[in-house]
Amino acid sequence: MTFVIGENCIKCKYTDCVEVCPVDCFYEGPNFLVIHPDECIDCALCEPECPANAIFSEDEVPEDQLQFIELNAELSEVWPNITEKKDPLPDAAEWDGKKGKLDQLER
Ligand code: SF4
Ligand code: F3S
Repeated sequence: MTFVIGENCIKCKYTDCVEVCPVDCFYEGPNFLVIHPDECIDCALCEPECPANAIFSEDEVPEDQLQFIELNAELSEVWPNITEKKDPLPDAAEWDGKKGKLDQLER
């Protein structure tokens, strides 16, 4: 089991999540973070930390975001590790809660 970052992280990237992870399994792209599914120990600490409510247990990922399970696995193999909180993206508040952000994902 792993935790998965879903759509609402895109263009927000608050990064509060990385601070609490005991195994440093977050990876950072230009406007989105992902969790490495083979490194996550399923501790659930990150889920309540995300101001955008973008983190789900793998078995609770909403139906319309199921493709994010594969996306986290894929991108965590190529993006660099992130272990410290940084400023959110400049328009985070504006994008928080917007639907259909997947086409905004930068790789
Ligand atoms: Fe890290 Fe725990 Fe979140 Fe997995 S569930 S990403 S181990 S904080
Ligand atoms: Fe993204 Fe939430 Fe972490 S917006 S960077 S999953 S705190």
